[in-house]
Amino acid sequence: MALVPPKKRRGAGRGEEAGGAAAPSLAPLRFPGLTIYLAERHMGRSRRAFLTGLARAKGFRVDQAYSPEVTHVVMEGSSATEASGWLDRVLGASGSLPRPLLLDISWFTESMGQGKPVPVEGRHCLGVPLPTRSQADPGCLPAYACQRHSPLNHHNLCFTEALDTLAEAAGFEGSEGRFLSFRRAASVLRALPGPITSMSQLRGLPHFGDHSSRIVQELLECGVCSEVERVKQSERYQTMKLFTQIFGVGIRTADKWYRDGLRSLDDLQGQSRKLSRQQEAGIRHFDDLNTPVCRHEAEAIQRVVEKAVQQVLPGATVTLTGGFRRGKPQGHDVDFLITHPIEGQEEGLLPKVMALLESQGLVLYQHTHSNHYQDLKDPSQNTSLFDTYERCFSILRLPNPAAAFHPEPGEEPARDGKAVRVDLVVAPASQFAFALLGWTGSQIITILRAGTFLCIPQWSRAS
Ligand code: TTP
Ligand code: MG
Repeated sequence: MALVPPKKRRGAGRGEEAGGAAAPSLAPLRFPGLTIYLAERHMGRSRRAFLTGLARAKGFRVDQAYSPEVTHVVMEGSSATEASGWLDRVLGASGSLPRPLLLDISWFTESMGQGKPVPVEGRHCLGVPLPTRSQADPGCLPAYACQRHSPLNHHNLCFTEALDTLAEAAGFEGSEGRFLSFRRAASVLRALPGPITSMSQLRGLPHFGDHSSRIVQELLECGVCSEVERVKQSERYQTMKLFTQIFGVGIRTADKWYRDGLRSLDDLQGQSRKLSRQQEAGIRHFDDLNTPVCRHEAEAIQRVVEKAVQQVLPGATVTLTGGFRRGKPQGHDVDFLITHPIEGQEEGLLPKVMALLESQGLVLYQHTHSNHYQDLKDPSQNTSLFDTYERCFSILRLPNPAAAFHPEPGEEPARDGKAVRVDLVVAPASQFAFALLGWTGSQIITILRAGTFLCIPQWSRAS
């Protein structure tokens, strides 16, 4: 079901048209960082040619062939399944290639109408595949999150936001059971093939208890949930959220500060209590660290980390993991997994890499742990294998060249010097595949780790 003529596809690197340069534009390009590819299927050749000319005349870049530079794929009359199937074929096995936005023609026509790219909204997106047969019937939704769809864009955002807020608030109170219940209910709603519009659709869903059902009901009936609003307005929730957003501060510390009467960052700085080096760095770079990291910033960091790793240990590989590997366009940090094909060569790598990055003036904070595999032999430590890897929790300064990268439309350009949280983990080659799965996440996915099912993060952001 290819969307381009077979002739054009021949010889392309990944079984699709590749490397397509933009044909000459009729008007100067006005939207750097945005490249459109119009898929011909259902649109037809002549309409495609017409739309291409129209967009180019308005200063949009429209490529005739698909390439990794394409940021917006526009389709007409295509289902989400068809669109995502097409993209999977185009990208082939290269999971690391950037994924463009898959958009319905409505985004294109609105953008042409306004003479500029309109912000992408959920209704424009084709990125949510239709459910497979077993998932179409909510009664058949698998109980394990790792067996369900977990799309980035889904149909029940207002419900999942409410449930996630309650989960977060429960977490702040140390109520693990309620935390898990709300997170699981939200995760189930993300997997549904369409929006919840009536309570009957909740029947038979796994992990959907009375409390979560009541939240959904109130949202359906009133458009807002009083419990969620109450939580969001509460001083306790707002303060705990603020404090736990500080790098180096977990729930226990935030709770202690709250009970001591502290409420703001100024309160923290004004008091004589000793903050850890990590917390001081977290407060110093608070604004930057709470500004989402965009993909082009993550890729800029990846280039400097890769260069340093190669210099210290040629042959070692650096893989972008975490949310970015799951296709998220933004994240709270950048996660890397490093390995070397020869087992053992990777030991002691991080201190050297960090020293090199420090000499380049890129390190704002770092804390490196050497591996401690010996802890695994001590059952009283209850240590998981993943917690024993060599790791570095750091804050890096966004390197200079990042400023040269074109942001996505609507994104702020990369600011030179922005502080970015970066986590580096080193795994021996024999464990790389498992570590990659673990650090790709998401956190809610139940991960089979060393014979135990782990649902709750064992190590916190603050660790
Ligand atoms: P995070 O960077 O905390 O999560 P993330 O990358 O999925 O989300 P964000 O975009 O906000 O950065 O952790 C990276 C991965 O590590 C996560 O996807 C799964 C794994 N992980 C655990 O297994 N346990 C944990 O406690 C944490 C924090 C992460
Ligand atoms: Mg992350």
